[in-house]
Amino acid sequence: MRKIKDIRPIDVKDYKLYVIDQLKLPQETVWVELSTYREVAKAIKDMIIRGAPLIGIVGAYGFAIGIRQIVEENRSLNEAEEVLETLKNTRPTAVNLFWALDRMWKKFRKWTEEGIEGKKLVDALFKEANRIDVEDYHANKAIGGYGQVLLPEKCNVLTHCNTGALATSGWGTALGVIRSAFEMEKDITVYVDETRPYLQGARLTAWELLQEGIPHYLITDNSAGFLMSKGLIDAVIVGADRITANGDVANKIGTYSLAILAEAHDIPFYVAAPTSTFDLNTKSGKDIPIEERDETEVKKCGGCDIAPEGTKALNYSFDITPASKITAIITEKGIISHVDEEHITKFLKYRGI
Ligand code: MRU
Repeated sequence: MRKIKDIRPIDVKDYKLYVIDQLKLPQETVWVELSTYREVAKAIKDMIIRGAPLIGIVGAYGFAIGIRQIVEENRSLNEAEEVLETLKNTRPTAVNLFWALDRMWKKFRKWTEEGIEGKKLVDALFKEANRIDVEDYHANKAIGGYGQVLLPEKCNVLTHCNTGALATSGWGTALGVIRSAFEMEKDITVYVDETRPYLQGARLTAWELLQEGIPHYLITDNSAGFLMSKGLIDAVIVGADRITANGDVANKIGTYSLAILAEAHDIPFYVAAPTSTFDLNTKSGKDIPIEERDETEVKKCGGCDIAPEGTKALNYSFDITPASKITAIITEKGIISHVDEEHITKFLKYRGI
């Protein structure tokens, strides 16, 4: 087995959260201190941290930080709701944020009803956030273990956005599968979509792969079809921001086009995600709120204006890939290889989720 270094995108010390500023990568690795829940909410909204699982983890720590502020300032715990809502009101698509905050909220309600308060309550909430964080890491390692089996010994794999250590508590989901395959000494070459406009592929995925010494090529977002037609791609693997009851997947804009291209070229299209990404309360992809970000993100590249001032731009951050286009969903509990409502329901039910 190869030795793989891992990257940890956050750290917690003295009730403060430290995160790598992902807007500054790969040029600089700058750690930012977040000591209030409003700072945490802003870091999520401004994409200083991003990636569905990491947004959930950071949101959970943000809630603990907010309750600590209330306790330290001797304010009423009724203000907890304001903390919760501020954190929820940051990015709408990745369900992991709402999943993690709901889990924190339930614990908060339970413990306060039991009379736990002050430092004891704050410490318990930090511990719960840490549990979410650690569970995510182990889930990623399991996803990697299950997923790498699907990749042949020699494999050219195409991925989109950043689904690695920087998007999670470490290791990654789709990129975690690639890490695990490389660790198992598979002969992997990764084709990395640059992923406009935030350039998660060019800036973050390429940075991670370079650190691990995993062979890769950066490609423009519009290269996939041509590479597939030349027989250069054996598999596509992406992450997810939300998976609905019927198996539709919200992920970074451009994912849907890749799924269509993969189907046209008879290439397997895999989605890797922890079970915290499933949203069984949402029936299908058309019910998922899709984040629309500021048009200036599209009209700029690397800080430079690239379009005439008067041009309007559309900036949907995510798209929906229908379940029918997905070969399999890789989770920490195993692989769902028939992606439809019936199989998803059974799969999660038998695993107690
Ligand atoms: O806008 P981002 O960078 O938060 O979007 C990230 C993605 O779309 C990822 O593919 C998804 O969150 C899965 S990360 C393990």
